[in-house]
Amino acid sequence: MTPILTAESLSVSFTRYGRGLSRVELPGIRDLSLTADPGQVTAVVGSSGSGKSLLAHAVLGILPRNSRMEGTLLYDGAPLSPRRAAALRGREIVLVPQGAGCLDPMMQVGPQIRRGRRGPEVRTQCRQALERYGLGPETETLYPFQLSGGMARRVLIASAVMEGPRLVVADEPTPGLDARAAGRLLSHFRELADQGAGVLFITHDLELALTVAHKVVVLYAGQTVEEVPAEGFRTEKGLAHPYSQALWRAMPRNGFQVLPGLQPEGLDLPEGCAFAPRCPGRRPECGRGQIPYIETDGGRARCLFPGEVSVS
Ligand SMILES: Nc1ncnc2c1ncn2[C@@H]1O[C@H](COP(=O)(O)OP(=O)(O)O)[C@@H](O)[C@H]1O
Ligand SMILES: [Mg+2]
Repeated sequence: MTPILTAESLSVSFTRYGRGLSRVELPGIRDLSLTADPGQVTAVVGSSGSGKSLLAHAVLGILPRNSRMEGTLLYDGAPLSPRRAAALRGREIVLVPQGAGCLDPMMQVGPQIRRGRRGPEVRTQCRQALERYGLGPETETLYPFQLSGGMARRVLIASAVMEGPRLVVADEPTPGLDARAAGRLLSHFRELADQGAGVLFITHDLELALTVAHKVVVLYAGQTVEEVPAEGFRTEKGLAHPYSQALWRAMPRNGFQVLPGLQPEGLDLPEGCAFAPRCPGRRPECGRGQIPYIETDGGRARCLFPGEVSVS
């Protein structure tokens, strides 16, 4: 099966001009590799600043002008240039944005969902999309301020999926929702996958991701460090990268053991493995050169000693 989305050694960097026209390249994401299959929810998990939104924006072709993208990005097996992304955006590839702030406060819900399109067919589609997410036809005449947080989120997803997308990118869609509303939203993503779409569910919340994901991709400092079937997270031993293992130990059900230290930022990247300074099992080799992204049991990991390090 062709993945609906493939990223291989994708990087996004920013050019800043310093004093006297000196140019500085700031890495945003680097060496990001993943695949997302149709019919599956692929969770992309990482803490703040790890590159999640840049990934989403690269896929949608909406990176800022001062950024530079390198590496490979394929949609349905063919290169996804910003131009192709623009042509597919809003139809085949859709974004479920983070918050209701993305809705126009001055415009009723109905016209926003229809995005300027008219005619009886579009009206029916719009009603059906709302109905699918438990929103009655009266919702069309409401303004965003009249919606609760959960309703606004359902309006956003109804709007995104109205035309039957093949790739749904959801960038942190749950903050601010209570557990029940978040659960409902995630079950909608699962449904979209069951109907054949590829869903990229981007979140900092591993525990939430594991409730719906088929596969988990772990980001650290702008790099993918592990790609693993969700079952890998059942036990610490199911994981190959020490950072994934640390995330596992930090989950409430596994004792909330938080790893000391912070993810490096911007230009502050160490040589060798970016995680080495915090790694309980680091060895001298880890501080040198490039760390390859190698195949593991059912996935990939960016570690010279995958699965060997375990503190518990
Ligand atoms: N427009 C920009 N200019 C410079 N750096 C940026 C820009 N956008 C993002 N970055 C940097 O790229 C990194 C990843 O950002 P982002 O993808 O927003 O992280 P996340 O969504 O995981 O919190 C961060 O270090 C951030 O500072
Ligand atoms: Mg973000």
